[in-house]
Amino acid sequence: MRLDGFIARATNLSRREAQHSIKEGRVRVNGQVVRNPANRIDDAAVTLDGEPLKLPCPVYVMLHKPAGYLCATTDGQHPTVLDLLPSGLHPTEPLQIVGRLDLDTTGLVLITTDGTWNHRITAPNSHCTKIYRVQLAEPITAEAKAILQRGVMLHSEIKPTLPCHIQTIDSREVHIKLQEGRYHQVKRMFAAVGNRVVHLHREQVGELILDPLLAPGEFRHLTEPEILCACR
Ligand code: URA
Repeated sequence: MRLDGFIARATNLSRREAQHSIKEGRVRVNGQVVRNPANRIDDAAVTLDGEPLKLPCPVYVMLHKPAGYLCATTDGQHPTVLDLLPSGLHPTEPLQIVGRLDLDTTGLVLITTDGTWNHRITAPNSHCTKIYRVQLAEPITAEAKAILQRGVMLHSEIKPTLPCHIQTIDSREVHIKLQEGRYHQVKRMFAAVGNRVVHLHREQVGELILDPLLAPGEFRHLTEPEILCACR
């Protein structure tokens, strides 16, 4: 990591202010004054005005998203899922939303400051599974279920969806387990077989199950084992 980036992440300084502090000789790396903001530091002891600096611990939370909240960091029209978190949750690093749910979709949303962890879960080739509970407008037929499970071609796409698993709860309600996350995927899949999603709720991402103790709008921090096992 670059020295100026480290200072900015470890303090309230902007990157420009961090660069100034370095050029002014206020920063030491392993006891030596360093004046080049581009110097790379790995596992070094860094001080600013004699104060040791440490990167803040990354944040990992699960949130029970209610309908009506957007999975975006800001929006002029709708409240966002970040509005449901305390503003001081992470003062120096931006929060990232791990994948997106539609405005009307409810359920499990993961939020972190750890870009590598986010990427591990969301990268298309990670095939991290997601489980949704789906309420349908029409009863699901055995034929539609078989087509969807094999993979279906979605409008304006060039490849069919990957095979998935559907478990019937009752005639108009199913669990669907996907290993990919295309735009509006669940709604488009059911539309492709002539049905319509009435309500969509995400219950699981990888190994992480939405905590049943979380009411809509509530969040909690992930435990260490949950962070490690998120997408194996
Ligand atoms: N698929 C959808 O259609 N919507 C979501 O919010 C998530 C998956």
